[in-house]
Amino acid sequence: MNPFIWLEDNYYWNDETHKVVDENGNVFEYKDIPQKIRERLKLLGLIMPNGLDKVLYQNFEIDLRIKEIAEKINEDYKDIKDPLILVGVLKGCFIFMADLSRYLRIPHVIDFMSVSSYGDKIENDGNVRIIMDCRVNQKGRDVLIVEDIVDSGYTLNYLVNNFKSRGTNSVKSATLLDKPKGRKVDFEADYVGFELTDNSWVVGYGLDAFEKWRTLPYIATIKRN
Ligand code: IMP
Ligand code: MG
Repeated sequence: MNPFIWLEDNYYWNDETHKVVDENGNVFEYKDIPQKIRERLKLLGLIMPNGLDKVLYQNFEIDLRIKEIAEKINEDYKDIKDPLILVGVLKGCFIFMADLSRYLRIPHVIDFMSVSSYGDKIENDGNVRIIMDCRVNQKGRDVLIVEDIVDSGYTLNYLVNNFKSRGTNSVKSATLLDKPKGRKVDFEADYVGFELTDNSWVVGYGLDAFEKWRTLPYIATIKRN
């Protein structure tokens, strides 16, 4: 397979040698790579911060997928009367939620809540606590909870049931990522961006590992040592 990935102008990334070259085959050291080509390399995840393993989803793939989800939501809620309440679960939801809300053509408002489940641990023990609740009154309204990822399922399972007990008209959930292998309770989100095939910890596009890598423009796995 051709190892060259076009960057801009006459610059290419050689995916075998992990070097930038031009069309004449000249190889560039990092210090000689023009700034805009460096930016392109970072955006594509061709050069990544230390500690990351591989890119799973590129920025443009995520964008396309979110558009598709938004179209489904537009269709499903086309007859909605009061604006749909999008409830983002902080902090991981913030980029997905911003994208999703901008692709919606149905009336909607946004709200956020914050829950604590993992504490300092990397495993969810099933205890979900609401640290900060929504501000919009949900009585009689349609609610769509927006999450970054479903793993054990404890968080969204708890939240969906919690919102149902608030006299809402309907409660659904949307998640950018799903890790079905991590499931500890029977739970399925209504709208799923991408399904991950294993249990790797992923970061970027809102997701973090101990607050690191949250604002990367792509989704990548981290190295486990
Ligand atoms: P659950 O309650 O186990 O489904 O956990 C969901 C929450 O755990 C998500 O909202 C994330 O904050 C966090 N989480 C689970 N897996 C990952 C991951 O791979 N990367 C980043 N955060 C994750
Ligand atoms: Mg989260």
